Amino acid sequence: MRILDGIEELRAWRRGLEPGATVGFVPTMGALHDGHLSLVARAREAAEVVAVSVFVNPTQFGANEDLDRYPRDREGDAERTGSAGADAIWFAREEEVYPPGFATTVDLPPIARRLCGLDRPVHFPGVALIVLKLFHLFRPTHAFFGEKDYQQCVLVERMVRDLDLEIEIVRCPLVREESGLARSSRNSNLTPEGREVGVALSRGLFRAREAFDRGERDAARLIAGAAVEIEDPRISLEYLELVDPVTLAPLDAVDPERGGRLLVAARLESVRLIDNIALGGEGGGA
Ligand code: PAF
Repeated sequence: MRILDGIEELRAWRRGLEPGATVGFVPTMGALHDGHLSLVARAREAAEVVAVSVFVNPTQFGANEDLDRYPRDREGDAERTGSAGADAIWFAREEEVYPPGFATTVDLPPIARRLCGLDRPVHFPGVALIVLKLFHLFRPTHAFFGEKDYQQCVLVERMVRDLDLEIEIVRCPLVREESGLARSSRNSNLTPEGREVGVALSRGLFRAREAFDRGERDAARLIAGAAVEIEDPRISLEYLELVDPVTLAPLDAVDPERGGRLLVAARLESVRLIDNIALGGEGGGA
């Protein structure tokens, strides 16, 4: 696997690819875990060339968020990405991505200010900005995003559609630890006890899924069932919402054909955790 050093080397590598080659791109913030590697594996199946970027993007973190605490593991990332079959990896440097005087921003639709965007107003504009830049640099034919960041998937798809980018966005299923905890680079900032307590989030989501499978369609009752499992004095719930899988508008009831998405965000030991589950629709039970 080629380790690309600097934007110029990345551009030269991209120019040197076979014209017309399919390029699968996996953008990441590093500290790669099995969830990321599942994206690389999916890209390997779908494209002739597979590239990964690693960049803890400061513009998607608010002041007082965990930018400094975000886990970093350059060596481990290179090793794991190579073993997973990627052809190239780029560790971006902040001064190259955002040189002095950088001032452009990306404006997003109102759904970027709901759910995760409510407490983190700069988050999705920052994500959109870096993803757009990376798309221009890598010029992928396919890009792979994990459904753990469900709202991010919806917003990136929307941006690609609105801006006529010729990139197929491939959503990949969320990957869980054996305990049920959604895999996240941030899990490494939890204590062993925190990791156990955090399983309550997925327990809540699975409880809602069971109720849905038994025929429950009422959003308030599905949410209440999940909330009972999640309730813990150590967990500070940010939101638990059942939304339309496409528009992310809150639902009163789930139409099993169209489906719903139950999304949760919470803080535990100062670590922000998110998780979600499909209820109905494609691959969403019942
Ligand atoms: O999902 C992530 O890890 C990040 O938001 C992304 C897409 C790499 C942009 O920094």
